[in-house]
Amino acid sequence: MKRNEFFSAFGISAGMLFVAPILASCGKNVLDTTGIVVPNTGGGTVVDFTLDLTQSAYSSLNNSGGSLVVNSIIVAKTVSGSYVALSAVCTHQGGLLGYDAGNNRFHCPNHGANFATDGSVLNGPAQTALRKYNVQLTGNSLRVYA
Ligand code: FES
Repeated sequence: MKRNEFFSAFGISAGMLFVAPILASCGKNVLDTTGIVVPNTGGGTVVDFTLDLTQSAYSSLNNSGGSLVVNSIIVAKTVSGSYVALSAVCTHQGGLLGYDAGNNRFHCPNHGANFATDGSVLNGPAQTALRKYNVQLTGNSLRVYA
């Protein structure tokens, strides 16, 4: 199989091969297929994306108690109506956290750790706080950034 045939078989164009490494290395955010800005994961440290709350994929964030996970970050609209963004990865052994609206905390189903809305540990076995991100609501756009 020739190189062109190989790339065609997997739907990869020459343009994609050229652009992808540049996006991964330049430290700029990129647009995903839904049109939202997502962090460049190539550098591993840049977090700056905006969720359009008019899109159905993010509609849960229009209700107090709603939450979702985007880019390994859990974003919640707390029961008090404020937005919070924390790392969604439990600091114990990497479980995926959920927002427990009834107790206004973040819960890990793996071993029961709970975290406050500021990311601090409420109870173990986790010992380390979650990373907290800044949030800014402008109209229907919710920006999450480091
Ligand atoms: S992985 Fe979360 S408590 Fe163990």
